[in-house]
Amino acid sequence: MKKNGSFLKTAFTKLLFGVHVVVVRCLQWGDTGKGKIVDALMFWADIIVRGTGGDNAGHTIVNNGKKTILHIIPSGIMGDSEGKITIIGPGTVIYPKALTDEMLNLRRQGLSYDNLKISKDAKLILPTHIFEDRIKELSNGKGKIGTTGKGIGPAYADHYARIGLTMNDILNENVFRKKLERHLLHKTHLMDYPLDKAEEVMHCEHLMNGKFYDAHELFAFDEIVYQYVNLFGKALKPYIEDTNFLIRDALRRKRNILIEGAQGDLLSVDYGTYPFVTSSDSSLEGLVKGCGLRTEHVGLDLGIIKGFMETRVGSGTFPTEMGGGLSAEHCATYTKEQEKVMYPDVSVNSEDDLKAGIALRKVAQEYGVTTGRPRRIGYLDLPLLRHSMSRASAKTRLVLTKLDILGDVKTIKVCTHYKYHGDRYFDGKREYSEGSFVMTPPMDHYFLSYCEPVYEEFPGWSEDITKIRDYKDLPQELKDILDFIVENVGAKNQPAIVSVGPDREETIVL
Ligand code: GDP
Ligand code: IMO
Ligand code: MG
Repeated sequence: MKKNGSFLKTAFTKLLFGVHVVVVRCLQWGDTGKGKIVDALMFWADIIVRGTGGDNAGHTIVNNGKKTILHIIPSGIMGDSEGKITIIGPGTVIYPKALTDEMLNLRRQGLSYDNLKISKDAKLILPTHIFEDRIKELSNGKGKIGTTGKGIGPAYADHYARIGLTMNDILNENVFRKKLERHLLHKTHLMDYPLDKAEEVMHCEHLMNGKFYDAHELFAFDEIVYQYVNLFGKALKPYIEDTNFLIRDALRRKRNILIEGAQGDLLSVDYGTYPFVTSSDSSLEGLVKGCGLRTEHVGLDLGIIKGFMETRVGSGTFPTEMGGGLSAEHCATYTKEQEKVMYPDVSVNSEDDLKAGIALRKVAQEYGVTTGRPRRIGYLDLPLLRHSMSRASAKTRLVLTKLDILGDVKTIKVCTHYKYHGDRYFDGKREYSEGSFVMTPPMDHYFLSYCEPVYEEFPGWSEDITKIRDYKDLPQELKDILDFIVENVGAKNQPAIVSVGPDREETIVL
């Protein structure tokens, strides 16, 4: 096999012909391998830009066996030494400490970020946001969203509530002081929480072990100013600019722009399984807007699903979860290490769905890279995929990752539709009652929790597919399932990419 991207260049020639803006996004609940696909397309891109989310994301890139994990910095940074420009776009939310920590980590790994650009309009995550996120989750108990605790939701909420700050503000001390004063005035409700809990949260590592804490005011005004303006502001100044201008210029000059999605369609605040979603619009429309682009600029829209399965981190209904509620409880309670000790010897073919799911999680290494939590694991859910694909365009192509990990699974189950078992439910003009078939569900968490998945079973394959680079060489059983999916979700095109391993080269382009 040819190395150094030449194999990929040849493989991608037809798919990328005449295209200048490519979107890589996820059609499920995140973690489908956006980092890997962005990395595979790196040879093509001049600019890589992220438009939504913050350090709640965790993107893994594996290059010649070496793993790099990124949270807020786009995976495009792996091409920095080749002069590729990486942009953190205006639709993102940034915690300067997390960003500077990540930059430091890159340096430690010997990776450069000389061409990193941070949008001056990106929203600032303040200590108040992280505090609010964590204290709300604490007081929500069983009803918690299971957020990453990074302050993402409150930062977006405050932007819409018109009390947010931007990255540009850390460059201007006087402006920052005035805006922070007004911000804190509006956040007085945060003082209502029990003092002991508040103090504990404010002393967490993410909040710099109490640096922003004031015993009387809760938030130490001068310390926030000092850290944000004098330390982070100075360190980040060389990178902060008007990235919308860069993007417009790149469009005009027909440079290749790669949009790196964060989260996934089912986590979008506008289209996802509300309220168990993130607080940005991680759909195509939200991503593109958050980069300073419009959807009509997009030439190719790559929507990733995990090959024939599904994962979810945090709370929220998951109709096809292997082991159902028991799995959700298990994942919320135990760590990866505890799971290893509790279930040393489980099989992906176990009759017990919970155990089969745990085995699959171990094989697929489905543990969150941001929180370390075991990812809940389930069968591929076509009703939810139909929902995501219902807004697809002729430019949308499916991408399947992680198909290599199913090699030992004897029977592959795919959920084709649901049977509804709740009270009479109106979805606008559509009515559901006991026993109704559901093909494309409403995005209502409560409705979904009354849905029983109905499965179609397919025989699996047993060969190792990681070395395959040509679609025609894939096992027939795998291609049959793929055809079934394409036909059943109303995809307008054949899939574009099948990923057969985490490494850049382990990629089949159709
Ligand atoms: P992202 O958030 O969408 O970028 O995905 P994550 O990085 O959180 O999780 C995807 C995981 O799957 C990472 O550990 C990747 O290295 C890995 N991965 C991506 N594609 C493949 C694949 O085709 N096969 C295997 N075995 N792993 C993959
Ligand atoms: P990537 O880009 C998976 C989930 C959290 C939680 C919910 C809300 O790696 O695919 P938040 O902190 O955003 O308010 O949490 O959203 N979540 C993700 N799950 N992958 C992600 O990003 C996620 N980003 C947020 O687990 O359930
Ligand atoms: Mg991830």
